[in-house]
Amino acid sequence: MSVDLRSDNTAGAAPYVLEALAAAGTGTAASYGDDEITARLQQRVSEVFEREAFVFPVVSGTAANALGISALCPPWGAVVCHEGAHILVNEAAATSMFSGGAALLGLAGVGSRLTPEALTACFERTGWDDPHHSQPAVLSVTQATEMGEVYEPEQIGALATLAAARGLRVHLDGARLANALAALGCVPADLTWRAGVEMVSLGATKNGTMTADAIVVFDPAVAQELRFRLKRAGHVASKGRFQSAQLDAYLTEDRWLRSASRANAAMARLLAGLAELGYHPVVPARANLAFVAVPDEVSARWAQAGVQFYVIEPGVVRLVTSWATTDADITTALHHFETPSSGRSLTECAHRR
Ligand SMILES: Cc1ncc(COP(=O)(O)O)c(C=O)c1O
Repeated sequence: MSVDLRSDNTAGAAPYVLEALAAAGTGTAASYGDDEITARLQQRVSEVFEREAFVFPVVSGTAANALGISALCPPWGAVVCHEGAHILVNEAAATSMFSGGAALLGLAGVGSRLTPEALTACFERTGWDDPHHSQPAVLSVTQATEMGEVYEPEQIGALATLAAARGLRVHLDGARLANALAALGCVPADLTWRAGVEMVSLGATKNGTMTADAIVVFDPAVAQELRFRLKRAGHVASKGRFQSAQLDAYLTEDRWLRSASRANAAMARLLAGLAELGYHPVVPARANLAFVAVPDEVSARWAQAGVQFYVIEPGVVRLVTSWATTDADITTALHHFETPSSGRSLTECAHRR
């Protein structure tokens, strides 16, 4: 039996999302987000974040990041992020395009997390007020990180404080925000505005929605600008209620957090089993994905046995669980990891590393 650990994007849409879509499909409703479901979503997002918040549904995390940041960054600005940030490495410079040319400055951190030291050093290198240099204007932090690490609220706060002191605005790429919240057991406000974050890419598609992600912003002036930026980019759906219905269902009754907890628990069980076999994440993973050091000949056997995953670089595989990963999936994956399909036992391989 095969097990899919390639990505949380490979899961389907959650049943409650499909039900909400079906319910939204009956009757007529005002177009372009002037409908009742979208009004309900606006209300719900303010409740979830415990303050007035403005939500803009979009179809992807890339759109949320690029369009959101474009409202915070002038064309001559720079967006400071980790050198492995999705906005820098995996989004085909969408943020530069939508901002009219902003530079993306990738910093080395500790593991996949940015550090205050790296940010301070970046600011010291910057030619402030010098038109020959891009001016750092936005700090973007990914939570949980691209490698499954999690920032504590204080760590985000320390970065945001440094950024704000230099006049930067703070964006959170929350593609896996729900997983970070579930891992830390804190409320959305603690990881966002209370820690100095001004804008959030909500990250719903990996955790249950079908075609809906969202920008959440707390500043009404930025929200006003986003109305126009989204329209120009073609991200104001005429039947916006279908996007809002997905997001509203997602955020109702803590479903997003419960789904993320399931995904995290599946990863924790997987990692515990792998640790017994001698395989460990290259950075401490606390959410639903991990980069694990595994010799290529071993990972090739896992793949042959029917476990699907990506080899990131020689000797490192990425494993990802989702809200839809079952206990049986993890049992099967661990069985394949333990049982060599040919040749030496995995334990033997592990000891030889
Ligand atoms: C950390 C992170 N940010 C943003 C995105 C972008 O999301 P999408 O693929 O929906 O554009 C991803 C997707 O993998 C991601 O992992």
